[in-house]
Amino acid sequence: MTESKLEKLFSEMTLKEKIGQLIQLESGCFASEQSAVTGPAAKLGIDQEMISNSGSVLNAFGAEKIYQIQKKYMEESRLGIPLLFMNDVIYGYHTIFPIPLGLGATWNSELIQEDFREIAKEAASDGIMVTFSPPADLIRDARWGRCLEMASEDPCLLSRYASAMVTGLHNDGKKGECLAACVKHFAGYSAVEAGREYNSVDMGERMLRENYFPAYKAAVESGCELVMTGFNTINGIPATGNQWLVKEVLRKEWGFDGIVISDYAAVEELITHGVAENEEQAAKMAIEATVDIDMQSSCYALWLEKMAENGKIAEQQVNDACWRILCLKNRLGLFENPYYGCNKLSDKESSEEKRICLARESAEKSCVLLKNDGVLPLKKEQKVALIGPYADSRDITGLWAVFADREKTVTLKKAMKEYAGESRIAYAKGCDFLDEYSNLGNFGNIKADSIPKLTEEEAKIAEMEAVDLAAISDVVVMAAGEHILQSGEAGSRTDISLPEVQKKLLKKLRKTGKKIVLVLFNGRPMALNDIQDDCDAILEAWFPGTEGGHAISRILYGVTNPSGRLSVSFPYSAGQEPLSYLRFSTGRPPQENNERFTSRYLDCPNEALFPFGYGLSYHSSNLKNLRLDKKMLKAGEHIQVEAEITNTGTVAGTETIQLYIRDICGSVVRPVLELKDFRQISLSPGETKIISFQITEEMLRFWRSDMSYGSEPGKFYVFIGLNSRDLLKEEFELL
Ligand code: GLC
Repeated sequence: MTESKLEKLFSEMTLKEKIGQLIQLESGCFASEQSAVTGPAAKLGIDQEMISNSGSVLNAFGAEKIYQIQKKYMEESRLGIPLLFMNDVIYGYHTIFPIPLGLGATWNSELIQEDFREIAKEAASDGIMVTFSPPADLIRDARWGRCLEMASEDPCLLSRYASAMVTGLHNDGKKGECLAACVKHFAGYSAVEAGREYNSVDMGERMLRENYFPAYKAAVESGCELVMTGFNTINGIPATGNQWLVKEVLRKEWGFDGIVISDYAAVEELITHGVAENEEQAAKMAIEATVDIDMQSSCYALWLEKMAENGKIAEQQVNDACWRILCLKNRLGLFENPYYGCNKLSDKESSEEKRICLARESAEKSCVLLKNDGVLPLKKEQKVALIGPYADSRDITGLWAVFADREKTVTLKKAMKEYAGESRIAYAKGCDFLDEYSNLGNFGNIKADSIPKLTEEEAKIAEMEAVDLAAISDVVVMAAGEHILQSGEAGSRTDISLPEVQKKLLKKLRKTGKKIVLVLFNGRPMALNDIQDDCDAILEAWFPGTEGGHAISRILYGVTNPSGRLSVSFPYSAGQEPLSYLRFSTGRPPQENNERFTSRYLDCPNEALFPFGYGLSYHSSNLKNLRLDKKMLKAGEHIQVEAEITNTGTVAGTETIQLYIRDICGSVVRPVLELKDFRQISLSPGETKIISFQITEEMLRFWRSDMSYGSEPGKFYVFIGLNSRDLLKEEFELL
């Protein structure tokens, strides 16, 4: 409708109806009247009237269910204001793509954008209008379970991904085939102390602005319609009540005029954080920070009206929030079509095929070959012992694949048998994922206490069968990794190595003397130092999604040459966390001679075991002849950087050439390496290509000692490499 009509509608709303728009409830509250008594709302003490006024629904899914909820709601709505349906469509709806941590290893924003376009179409065809995606929290600590949902430890790379995801979700604005995007979790949620979920976050403003803000900002600049506040504090004030963060930075500085939504019950949690004495104070703190929607708590529902009437809050706060929500509903065309994309995906078949192909391509390109002594690629005629808890598991979609069509998920066993033939792939589970599941808790329909466990006797037999099978096979492929509940939300862990029971099996398999290929399924960087010598190859597959089996099988057999490169650092040990390649020199950097009085550990290297940007392929490459067209850079000009890359292997392949800089001396300490650009190119065997980059003054800007943002004259190194460790270096000066 026109803005004037919307304004007229707004003017007819009562205060209670306006407050209703600020409330988001679980879909169970709308299923039927009795749910208001026995459903989730009952726990919130929200009555049927407030439910009938509420503005949005959390995680309803299925076109029929969404249609029914909306239809009933519209019949009862005095002013005919439709519900907004919001869901966690994080990296797929029914068709699941690789987890963002895996997508991050593709270094391919264009592909990710296409993925999210398809994801949006599939979800919108069920009537979903908003997704709580992209997650854009910068990875710093592998102990934190939600690394799974984040695409990188680097702000430059993460920003490109966040922007690509938002643009993909928007799908050129095709109503009913696009989703409004909600970047989360603003801000700095991944920097929780000790990597422990929901813990506090304390850091200097410069660290926030240099590293954690850019990806959220990129999403905002790409037009994401919502921003979700994180569960964490920022320097003592919870994000959901933090006026500096939301009003000053997000709204005033970045010009964001969209919707701010709290995370699940995070408004109420202001009480448990200890900054609000009760729900009334929590509601006041959040609305005055301009949080527009209270997700699944009763604070706004029960207190805003009273506070507005008695002047404890300005009614304008409610008006502003309500108006922003109505504007989104209007932009999505809901007043004309409250059912949005319900069953709109007419060409289901063709779009399904395209989605599956994209999911497979993305899974292939997300896999990272971490080690290979030549055992890979496998030969089709080899007799393979496929062993491990993930070999025949559909749990390869990761924790947030809450709407996955599990029947479509292709296991590794199925895919390898399809490719190599039934007789060449012999399967043995070998062991459970874990010795114990009870401490994992439940997540959605994944219940820790219903996970099948082998008895002690069964476990002995399973291990023996696996070892015997390995002994009579040509090669072992072990499909192992974290249990699906060991990462994702509330999945923080102090031990980020392979689970003990799987390590034990691996060591037994090693004793057979057979070549072992480890295929890893996990939602975080893992500490692999204690098992890397037990494997002749390691393929990092993350949680690869619906087409994971096909993707991995095509890589194992060399149909696809792996091209994934890590977008996060893999440590030797959890003790190194938080770990990033973006580190500072310190006053005493480690010396070759292992001098004691330097910044190092006595029992572990400082560096990553597998560094940021690292990955192997089936071809080899040679990067050489780094050259600059000038050594002095003036603002408004650029330096042309060139080098040559040759495929010195025997198969075609893709390389990701990375450009880093180092600001040698600044008004504040500067990282020893910063990614500023990258190029992805394909090369035939023996082919050489020239790679070129431009260095500009803008690339050299940072938050200076006086907290102004800009560059400073001085000397810089420029590096290029195929990862962040093996680099060619040149020097230039900014005048
Ligand atoms: C969860 C997550 C958030 C998600 C929200 C709604 O607790 O923190 O990422 O979007 O609740 O499910």
